[in-house]
Amino acid sequence: MHVLVTGGAGFIGSHTVVALLERGHDVTIADDFDNSSPEVINRIEQITGIRPALAEVDLRDEEAFDAAFATTAPDAVIHFAGLKSVGESSIDPLRYYEHNLSSTFSLLNAMKKHGVRTLVFSSSATVYGEGQEPPYGEDGGPLDANNPYGMTKVMLERILSDVADAEPGWHIALLRYFNPIGAHESGLIGEDPKGVPNNLVPYVLQVAIGRRPHVSIYGDDYPTADGTGERDYIHIADLAEGHVAALEKIVAIEGARAWNLGTGQGTSVKQLIAAVESASGIRIPAVIAPRRAGDLPRSWADTSRAEAELGWRATRDIADMARDGWRWQSQNPRGFDSVD
Ligand code: WQD
Repeated sequence: MHVLVTGGAGFIGSHTVVALLERGHDVTIADDFDNSSPEVINRIEQITGIRPALAEVDLRDEEAFDAAFATTAPDAVIHFAGLKSVGESSIDPLRYYEHNLSSTFSLLNAMKKHGVRTLVFSSSATVYGEGQEPPYGEDGGPLDANNPYGMTKVMLERILSDVADAEPGWHIALLRYFNPIGAHESGLIGEDPKGVPNNLVPYVLQVAIGRRPHVSIYGDDYPTADGTGERDYIHIADLAEGHVAALEKIVAIEGARAWNLGTGQGTSVKQLIAAVESASGIRIPAVIAPRRAGDLPRSWADTSRAEAELGWRATRDIADMARDGWRWQSQNPRGFDSVD
């Protein structure tokens, strides 16, 4: 298939583009490089030997995006483009609602206009909110989120489901990611957050590479094995393969349907820090800090639906994630800005 990947120069997008190309699909990336680097396109070509086509466009510019969509004429879309910082969304909620909703409306209008109705949507485990206990199942109860970023995902899942219910011919996969970490085994692409990383693993890797003095552990008094928060970390390569599996399955499924993409295992902050120390051979200084508002004690996926319906499950473990994440960080100390 010819797949349009919005946000395809981002962390999850770029790894999914590699997986699509290696699977034999054609890819066009739509990205405005607002939160990513054009260097990623070069790295994708280095990895796969194929340079994906590029539409440098902001999805919110409806006219420009519609023109790019018409030129691309894709068979399907994987939609990553959007703002994704939980913390930032609480500081500037209007920017998050405007950006994530309007870019998706622009995409859906272009898809309807040009008769394309196969979509894989980037959702998040954050839609499970605080009301449920892990393992989280896709039909475990009403969706909710305790931050504006997560609410954009709750709203967009509902909008996409309503569109699929109202109009025949839509095939929509709603993929709820847990915590994607690690990097492609080549070390050529990986997570490159702008500014101070909000998430644990990129922060720990920057400590290991010497860019940060220590990591703060947000609370060690949770009701967990070692008192620190437990999360379902999934290797970015497994996540990318999950997108390809969902794309190839959703073409035969009418309507909208959600799947968790996780491992079903919880790993604590301390365990993750130890895994990076083991992979890098570097001691990671850590200080105990107060809990972070909104953090859950534990979160992990019920992976049974994705295994049964997509024929997909994660195969890489925490040691693989730490090893591949460290290779990316040590080969790219300043991320894609390392390029002189
Ligand atoms: C993981 C654990 C923290 C940083 C978020 C989003 C989620 C998804 C993934 C988009 C927690 C602890 C963290 C630090 C720490 N993103 N921590 N020190 O919060 O589980 O999920 O990113 O879809 O939507 O909510 O990930 O990496 O921020 O935190 O102790 O400097 O690490 O308390 O237990 P989180 P995280």
